[in-house]
Amino acid sequence: MGEFKMINNEKSLILAIETSCDETSAAVIRNGNEILSNVVSTQIDIHKRFGGVVPEVASRLHVEQITLVIEEAMTQAHVDYEDLAAIAVTEGPGLVGALLIGVNAAKAIAFAHGLPLIGVHHIAGHIYANQLVQALQFPLLALVVSGGHTELVYMKDDGHFEVIGETRDDAAGEAYDKVARTLKLPYPGGPHIDRLAHEGTATIPFPRAWLEEGSYDFSFSGLKSAVINYMHNAEQRGEDISPADVAASFQESVVEVIVSKTIKAAKEYEVKQVLLAGGVAANKGLRASLQKEMSIFTDKELIIPPLSLCTDNAAMIGAAAFIRLKQGKLGNLALNGNPGLDLEDM
Ligand code: KG4
Ligand code: ZN
Repeated sequence: MGEFKMINNEKSLILAIETSCDETSAAVIRNGNEILSNVVSTQIDIHKRFGGVVPEVASRLHVEQITLVIEEAMTQAHVDYEDLAAIAVTEGPGLVGALLIGVNAAKAIAFAHGLPLIGVHHIAGHIYANQLVQALQFPLLALVVSGGHTELVYMKDDGHFEVIGETRDDAAGEAYDKVARTLKLPYPGGPHIDRLAHEGTATIPFPRAWLEEGSYDFSFSGLKSAVINYMHNAEQRGEDISPADVAASFQESVVEVIVSKTIKAAKEYEVKQVLLAGGVAANKGLRASLQKEMSIFTDKELIIPPLSLCTDNAAMIGAAAFIRLKQGKLGNLALNGNPGLDLEDM
């Protein structure tokens, strides 16, 4: 029925909503690859005071912002609800109270305008942000590095996600944020470490967690402890430390392991493209190293999204939703926020 019309609709417009953490965002996307609007209202300045995201505060701010952000996205895109093919929303993972705000807003619009509802996995969104940059070619490998995830995802085709490696403890972004806190840098610490790292030299031999031979898993908690110990020891001895050198040494340790495992997996799985995704994909050191090493050691194409599409935004959710729309994987009004949603089940 309607589904068939939408699949063949050359101008398939999706309104997408993202509220899984501390950004309230709405976007209008055409054909899964063209951004008509992408409005992001960030809560960072408020959570900063508490040194991290406070879930109750996040939910409250999403409630305040959601209607305004959606209206702004529709206005900037110059579209009416009647023009839309579907409403998409991040179903999970994320903070449950935050997810629910987006899910309920999406359900209300879907019900009021008789539109199909599409639930999207947040990480699928980060990966499909790359579709807004360039057409994807399969099989591909996505390196997902965010505040909550560090994963190598093999995709043999659109909508098929196989996690071939993941973190066994902290996510890369989490490690950045924790190390930043020990250096007394504001939340979120990733961008501050990144900036400092470029002012310092990687002189401190922090560990690299390679794990067992052949494993594509990651571990960052040992590295995080090593940085904390280094700081405490220096303090006890009354020695001055160079925050820039600590940042540079920490970043080198993270980037070396991530880049090397990504290149090894890209070769073993014989992929056509490698995609970078997630908030830590904004890291200048990681972007530069991946670009350099990929060009030396592989003939694969590397796609890196612009900074605005690396951190949380609804455009990426709309891009991922388009594939689900094409494949007829629609949700219904029973859709709920699911903090533990599994990427491989999508
Ligand atoms: O993907 P994202 O916006 O939210 C999650 O889905 O988790 O990622 C946020 C994470 C934070 O940990 C932040 O510190 C990190 O991305 N991040 C960075 C940089 N920019 C953001 N980490 C390292 N270098 C950066 N330039
Ligand atoms: Zn994210």
